[in-house]
Amino acid sequence: MSSNGHHSKGATEMAIRLDGVDKVFPGTERPAVSALSLEIPRGATVALIGPSGCGKTTTLRMINGLIAPTAGRIEVDGTDIATQPTVQLRRGIGYVIQEVGLFPHRTIAQNIGTVPKMLGWERDRIAERIDELVDLVGLDRDMLRRYPDELSGGQQQRVGVARALAADPPVLLMDEPFGAVDPIVRTRLQDELLELQARVGKTIVLVTHDIDEALKIADRIALLNVGGILEQYSSADELLAAPASGFVEAFVGDDRSVKRLQLKTVADLPFHQGPVLAATDGAVAARKVMQEYATDWIGVTSDDIFLGWVHADDILTDAPLASAPRAMPAAQVRRDSTLRSAMQIIMTSHTSVAVIDDGGQFGGVVTLELIRAGLEAVTD
Ligand SMILES: Nc1ncnc2c1ncn2[C@@H]1O[C@H](COP(=O)(O)OP(=O)(O)O)[C@@H](O)[C@H]1O
Ligand SMILES: [Mg+2]
Repeated sequence: MSSNGHHSKGATEMAIRLDGVDKVFPGTERPAVSALSLEIPRGATVALIGPSGCGKTTTLRMINGLIAPTAGRIEVDGTDIATQPTVQLRRGIGYVIQEVGLFPHRTIAQNIGTVPKMLGWERDRIAERIDELVDLVGLDRDMLRRYPDELSGGQQQRVGVARALAADPPVLLMDEPFGAVDPIVRTRLQDELLELQARVGKTIVLVTHDIDEALKIADRIALLNVGGILEQYSSADELLAAPASGFVEAFVGDDRSVKRLQLKTVADLPFHQGPVLAATDGAVAARKVMQEYATDWIGVTSDDIFLGWVHADDILTDAPLASAPRAMPAAQVRRDSTLRSAMQIIMTSHTSVAVIDDGGQFGGVVTLELIRAGLEAVTD
């Protein structure tokens, strides 16, 4: 017997699957979405990005069953949504929009409790869940009795996220959720979303027109052109390293290598001990290492602590490296430093290398050459 009755692996790992989806609105000629196929893995954060009018909102609304596709098939959690009652579909999906859309005459608590109440939860359970959500999105509990217009834009946006998460849906759709707040609040909300996602592990589809927001938040990016034509669907790094078309290249901007430096960290570099020896080593070993790395200096460590740099001219033939004059201070980076900040540190410290500092322990060296080499590997 070869069949075990299970679905194929790929089918069950996808939270959302669009297959050849078209949308032509009545009375329009140009499709809003054209032959869109997209697979969104469970637990992934996918950014849907593209210029205004390219069909991002239409796509989200089709996933949520608010708009029916003209052609094609949409599956959520393995089920064709055309065969599913809309109410049941939406129970599994939280929806956050730019305008937030809080009910103005209901308190924050009532707003957050909307879906649980609709689902007939008991009062105590709703109250408990509201408290939990308010903590989760970083609001004060004393805001619960207030009305939406008594909150700032950023606070309202957090309430919108709490409301969308109320019934713990596996999928969260967010349509330009940070579009209406100022840049400082936007950055904070983006950071909070990343922290939240690390805790709740939802499948998130985030619509944005801001490439930097997509790069910061998403595991994968789907870039649409006008007409809802998918230009590229890939990791952020691949989008920047290998744009699939001139449109993608123009959209991501001509500083795409610099943007990649922001995505990668020192830990992503091929490990590199560098031209470094122990203070007890001597001149012969030092010359060999310098030759190997084509440098005229060498780093000296003692008990895994970095002591400083020794120049070739200062190495004494019959003495350990410990006795040669050393130059400190070494520029220092951490393993979780971005390559961009490593480069910044190297450039402003008048050296061509930085030492990886693992909490006082020597972790290797980072050179500009190594950073350049790091960009050759594309992360998917
Ligand atoms: N209800 C509608 N009726 C007719 N055309 C629409 C409707 N909704 C959206 N469109 C059109 O579909 C295209 C895609 O719109 P939309 O999905 O809102 O784009 P985006 O969110 O990417 O800015 C646009 O040309 C828009 O004018
Ligand atoms: Mg839109």
